[in-house]
Amino acid sequence: MIPQDTVQQILQAADITEVVGEFVSLKKRGASMIACCPFHNEKTPSFHVSPAKGIYKCFGCGKGGDSLRFVMDLEGLSYPDALRWMAKKYNIEVKEREFTDQDLINQNEKESLFIVLDYAQRFFADTMADTEEGQNVGQSYFLERGFSKLAIEKFNLGYALDARDEFLKKAEKAGFSPDILQKAGLISIKDNEVKIDRFRGRVIFPIHNVAGKPIAFGARILKTDPKAPKYINSPETEIYHKSHIVYGIYQAKNAIRQADNCYLVEGYTDVVSLHQAGIENVVASSGTSLTVEQIRLIRRFSENITVLYDGDAAGIKASIRGIDLILEEDMNVKSVVFPDGDDPDSFIRKVGSTAFSEYVKEHQQNFINFKTELSLADIGDDPIKKAELISDLVTSITKIPNPIKRSVFYQEVAKLLQIDETILLTEGNKILRTKTPENKRAERSDGGGTLPAPPSRNQELEIINSLKKGNGQEEALVKDLVLYGHIIIDEDEETGEKHSLADYLLHETNDIELETPIFNQIYQFYKEEHIKGNQIDSKMFSSNPNPEIQDVVISWMSPKHELSDKWQKFEIFVPKYEELLNESSYRMILRIRKEKLQQEINNLIEEIDAASDEDLEILMNSIGKKRDFIKLIAEELGSVI
Ligand code: UTP
Ligand code: MN
Repeated sequence: MIPQDTVQQILQAADITEVVGEFVSLKKRGASMIACCPFHNEKTPSFHVSPAKGIYKCFGCGKGGDSLRFVMDLEGLSYPDALRWMAKKYNIEVKEREFTDQDLINQNEKESLFIVLDYAQRFFADTMADTEEGQNVGQSYFLERGFSKLAIEKFNLGYALDARDEFLKKAEKAGFSPDILQKAGLISIKDNEVKIDRFRGRVIFPIHNVAGKPIAFGARILKTDPKAPKYINSPETEIYHKSHIVYGIYQAKNAIRQADNCYLVEGYTDVVSLHQAGIENVVASSGTSLTVEQIRLIRRFSENITVLYDGDAAGIKASIRGIDLILEEDMNVKSVVFPDGDDPDSFIRKVGSTAFSEYVKEHQQNFINFKTELSLADIGDDPIKKAELISDLVTSITKIPNPIKRSVFYQEVAKLLQIDETILLTEGNKILRTKTPENKRAERSDGGGTLPAPPSRNQELEIINSLKKGNGQEEALVKDLVLYGHIIIDEDEETGEKHSLADYLLHETNDIELETPIFNQIYQFYKEEHIKGNQIDSKMFSSNPNPEIQDVVISWMSPKHELSDKWQKFEIFVPKYEELLNESSYRMILRIRKEKLQQEINNLIEEIDAASDEDLEILMNSIGKKRDFIKLIAEELGSVI
């Protein structure tokens, strides 16, 4: 845990233009700075940074946040990791000492693992560059395969000597204990004493986490030995969970975001080979079947995946399950199959990068066409097999959470297989209805110390819609609190006592419960801090760890009229909200009360049917009183009922 005061110190130091400026080049325009958005592909800049408010907002793709959120989203870091990143940038010492002893031990062990893996990565790279065996065997293997020196460096490729314990000896001399070397998966210890290097006489592919730290290794054999496995990989460790990472994500993440698409291949060599040909938005599942966690990792950078399959049928059939998983995560998936006998690596070496891209473009299929084409070969005229295919396709479609997308695919299947669309829909709805809670989408787990997947664009839309549906009055209230709560709206002439807008608003709404959860959350937080007498700053919300709160508050902080300088040209007067505040807050309170009363009346009306005679009288009485009250308010508001 990072202590709260350090967090505050970091947030205060963080300068939005400096932080964003590390990644994109900003140009000044009016009070804002603008750039082409790093989160989506665009040619004219719609990405705005407001230095005064400490926030950014893209009016193209909608992403917005403070400097911390920027680093989290762009680098795919968790909240604490983003804080550490920021601390490093501003030379702020982070003393993470609020741990229990066990936490501290675990944390230290993880730290040590990172350090020893980093040491190992350098050791293997140096071995390849500086030793005779490394150059003659390792380096020449890579060069023969057509890997450039640049690619070797970019992926930190290396070589492990063909010896028993060369690495162990050097590592011990460098101060690492056999215990930690074993925990890192770098050596194995037999019968408590015989220690040998795990990787011997193999070329090394370091596996990096999103932040670029090595967390494991894959090691390829060079000799042809049918008894030895082609690759030896690190075992699962405290910091390496095979099912949570894809190979190449660190090197690929920016390209994935820029292209808004991720190529998924099978092998280490496919990734390196495509990179070197200039196709950088590519990661590998490393020969295992795709997991939900891996998909969510990719989804931090794009919602589109194109699976590039080797041209052997067995491999394709085995990996087809991954498609449903991708659909289930509300992502779009396309598939490309290479000619028989080719994997992406061999194919791109054969035809070059231009022809490769063309091939991908021409042969990419959505999952319907892909599955259909695959099974059509076996089906022939067999109606039973055709029915199986259809129900398989329908099952896949039901995995898609978005109903609009689902309907598009139903149409597609109907057209492709010439079957009545309503039959498909009925079938699909049957499956959807029988979904038990377990086979519905699993809760987003918070696995591996990473943040849950950020909301997708669809979820963002949902949030926005729920806000729209939600109570407009409540939003106005909370927004006024957050943005203008600190403003003094009146001063007692005798006592000199000052009252802020927050004093007023909170007092007036004391007996009201907000219905929209997100506004209520913000409201309650504000209230608590206010009662404690703390100074509340809108920054506390725009840098809130809850991204939903961030989004809402940031949308308030970037008023639309600031953007439209055009308006001024036409001399359309845009009122400054603060100046109208007193009056507007009062009216707002009245409107809130009015709405609440109306709601109460509606509730009472619903009780009328079931009420006894006596109750009825009481009911009507209280409805009448409430109506009078509403009338009063309406008069005050100057509106006619
Ligand atoms: P491949 O056999 O396609 O290897 O396995 P490759 O990476 O394309 O290597 P080259 O081109 O033949 O040199 C695909 C992936 O499956 C995993 C590795 O991650 C590999 O990159 N794998 C394969 C293993 O982990 N162990 C194995 O024994 C074989
Ligand atoms: Mn290969």
